[in-house]
Amino acid sequence: MGHESSLITVTRRNFIKLGSAGLVGAYFSLALKGSDAASHPLARAADVYLDLPGVTKAFSFVHLTDAHLTECDQRDAKFVERLQARSKGFGGDLLGKAEGVLEATRMERPDFVAFTGDLMDLPTAANLEASAGMLAACGAPCWITMGNHEWEWPAEPNDRKYWQGRLQFLANQPLDWFAKEFNGVNLVFVDNSDYQFTEDQLNRTVELLKDGRPCLLFIHIPIYIESLVPAVEQVWKMALMVGYEQGRVPPTPVTLEFCRVVKSHPAVAGIFAGHVHFEHRDAYRQGAVQYIGTPVFAGGMRKIFVRATA
Ligand SMILES: [Fe+2]
Repeated sequence: MGHESSLITVTRRNFIKLGSAGLVGAYFSLALKGSDAASHPLARAADVYLDLPGVTKAFSFVHLTDAHLTECDQRDAKFVERLQARSKGFGGDLLGKAEGVLEATRMERPDFVAFTGDLMDLPTAANLEASAGMLAACGAPCWITMGNHEWEWPAEPNDRKYWQGRLQFLANQPLDWFAKEFNGVNLVFVDNSDYQFTEDQLNRTVELLKDGRPCLLFIHIPIYIESLVPAVEQVWKMALMVGYEQGRVPPTPVTLEFCRVVKSHPAVAGIFAGHVHFEHRDAYRQGAVQYIGTPVFAGGMRKIFVRATA
């Protein structure tokens, strides 16, 4: 399938209203002073409509990914220069860009927001505050998956389990594996940010799929689909995918089995991912699509409408 996106310009500046967002929202709002959210274009992908059996009430959500916030202050003095350079590399004013996307998200009044990792470029104290503010400013419940940038080198400690615990407060959910039933649909958030799935994640997912509800899967690193290979290799010069034998990280047997299950099980009705920093959508089996989001730092967002099968 082709790439579908349209450019919409945010025409007015509107700092985040504090409201229920509270103090974390206050940080986000303050941090935005000096940014220019209004000047950043959105790259909104075409809306998605999913008609699924057993939906008890129609709902919508917004999928966001990869904001790569680069906030840093004297609490993490050794990273200030690095993150300034990283911000430049992503085009600068990452908070302003996130604010533009969040304003557009709030205006859509989604029932929830799903964020698939790399909220921040590095887990600094200032980035943790900015990320919490960003999620609080969504104007809807927000659930997330971990991205590799939330724990990889040069993060200190360079320990995924530590950061899974430390970042749990962001969305008040476990970050290794988390399932939420929403209006008759199972939403499943799985941390695959080291290019693998674990046996525990596999067993929990297989068990969940037995309950007969349709399932939407949220992960950071996309699952191997043939059409994704040339697209990813063109941008990254290597295959940044999970479950691909010739990929950056050879998959374990458990990872391959996880991918086989979710790609073949009739209940898995959609996969949402990020990581590769471009928009892509293609079927992993007939009638079921993996959606990869344009990063928030490039104005990316996608709205999904879920309705009961007629
Ligand atoms: Fe990323």
